[in-house]
Amino acid sequence: MDVSISDISTSSLPEGTEITVKGWVRTRRDSKSGVSFIHLSDGSCFNSLQIVVPDEISNYQSEVIKVTAGCSIIARGCLVQSKGSGQSVELRAREVHVVGWVKDPETYPMSSKRHSMEYLREHAHLRPRTNIIGSMTRVRNCISQAIHRFFNEQGFLWVSTPIITASDCEGAGEMFRVSTLDPNNIPLDSNGHVDFKEDFFGKETFLTVSGQLNTETYACALSKVYTFGPTFRAENSNTSRHLAEFWMVEPEIAFADLEQSAQLAESLLKYICKAVLIERQDDMSFFVKHIDSNAISRLERLINMDFITVDYAEAVDILIDSGKKFEFPVYWGVDLSSEHERYLTEIHFNSPVIVINYPKEIKAFYMKVNDDGKTVAAMDVLAPGIGEIIGGSQREHRIDVLDERIVEAGMNPKDYGWYRELRTYGTVPHSGFGLGLERMVAYVTGISNVRDVIPFPRTPKNASF
Ligand code: 4AD
Ligand code: MG
Repeated sequence: MDVSISDISTSSLPEGTEITVKGWVRTRRDSKSGVSFIHLSDGSCFNSLQIVVPDEISNYQSEVIKVTAGCSIIARGCLVQSKGSGQSVELRAREVHVVGWVKDPETYPMSSKRHSMEYLREHAHLRPRTNIIGSMTRVRNCISQAIHRFFNEQGFLWVSTPIITASDCEGAGEMFRVSTLDPNNIPLDSNGHVDFKEDFFGKETFLTVSGQLNTETYACALSKVYTFGPTFRAENSNTSRHLAEFWMVEPEIAFADLEQSAQLAESLLKYICKAVLIERQDDMSFFVKHIDSNAISRLERLINMDFITVDYAEAVDILIDSGKKFEFPVYWGVDLSSEHERYLTEIHFNSPVIVINYPKEIKAFYMKVNDDGKTVAAMDVLAPGIGEIIGGSQREHRIDVLDERIVEAGMNPKDYGWYRELRTYGTVPHSGFGLGLERMVAYVTGISNVRDVIPFPRTPKNASF
C-alpha cells in the first residue's frame, strides 16, 4: 500500500502493515550492529519517518550505505513499533530503491545543519526541503484553504479578477507596465511620446495592484464576492514586509458600511487562526520551538479577544502622548509608518488593533468621504510584529464626490468611466478590504520577513528562480 508519512501519523495503521513510502532522505546513520537508520521526509507533514534498513537486504552494501541527505528513495517494508522517541512506529525496510542520487554530497546545499534565512533564499529551489520552509508551506496552504472555506460558508462568490489591467486601483503609480512593444522599434505619437495604442491591448496596460475595482462591479450585482490572487507593486521598498509580488484576498460586500467590513475582517482572522491551530499543530509546535515561542499563544489570544477599534485621531494622540521620539514625527495628517504601528500594537495595546477614519489626503481616491469632509471611512488592521495586515474601506458611492476625489488625485474621470457608472446605475453603499496573505502567514508563524513566507519572493533587484 502506497502511503504518505502523514497517513502514518494520522491514521492508526496497525503494526505489521505492508507499506511503500517515497521521499527525500534527511539523514542516514549506520549502527555497528549492521542496520542503517534513514530519516525520510515527503513533505506531507512535519514528521519524517524512520526507516530501519537491515544489512541483509540485497543492495545494502552497494547502495544503502552510500545514501546521503537529499537522495530520493522508495522504501517498502512493514510498520513496527518504534523504540526511538518522537514517533510511535517506524518502517522496517525489505527493499530500498534509490531513485535519484545526490551527485556530490559535499556540495549538497541543504545539508542537515542550520542555515540562515538569507542562505536559504539564495537556494529557493531547494529550500522547500528544510523544516522551516516545509512548515511554512503547509501553514500557508492551510490559511489559503481556510480563506476560501470561510467565504464559501458565508455565501460569498469567488470572482477571478484580471492580472492585466489599465487602471491604477490605489492611484499610487506603483505599477509594472505590461508591453509587447519592441524596444528596438518603439512607436512614437505626434508629441514624441511612446504610442501605447500600437501595443497589444491598444492602450497602456499594467499588472494589477489590487482586484478591488473589479470586485466592486460584481458586488454591485451579486452582493457578496471576493477575489484571491497575486497582485503586484513596483514600489522600491526594501523592507521585511514588502514584496513586489504578493497574494491578496479582497472581499467586497454591497449594502455594507465600514463597520460591517471591520466585523468581517475580525471573523476572517479568527477563522484562519482557528484553522491553523486545529490543522497544523505539528508545524506550529516547530515554530514555537525554533522561531517564536508565542506563536501558538498569540493565535489563541486573538481568537478569544474582541478587537480594539480606535479612530486615527485617537491613535495620533496616543503616539504623541507616549512622549517617544519616533524617527518620523507624529501629527494629525501623517501616514502612520511601521514604527508607529508597532508602538500601537506592541506597546500600547499589546494586541491587534483596527484604526479607522484616516485623513483623506493619505488614502486612496475610492474611499468614502466622512461627514467631517476631512477623513475617509478607511480601516487598517494592525498586528504586533508586522504592522498593517489588512487595508480596507467603505467605498465612495456618490458620483459627484467620487468625481471630485478622482480629479483631486490627479486622475482622469474618463479613464474610470466603467467604475463611475456603478454610481450612476443603481448605486449602493458598499465596502470591503484586502488581506495580504504573506503578512498573515508571517503573523501566524512568527517568521519575521515576508520573503520567507512565499515560495519565490520577488523584491527589488531579485527575480531569480
Ligand atoms: O492597503 P492596501 O494597499 O489595500 C488595497 O490594495 C485595497 N485595494 C484593498 C481593498 O480594499 N480591497 O493593501 C492591502 C493589504 C495590506 O494591508 C497588506 O497586508 C498587503 O495588502 N500589502 C502587501 N503585502 C506585501 N507586500 C506589499 N508590497 C504589500 N502592499 C500591501
Ligand atoms: Mg494600506
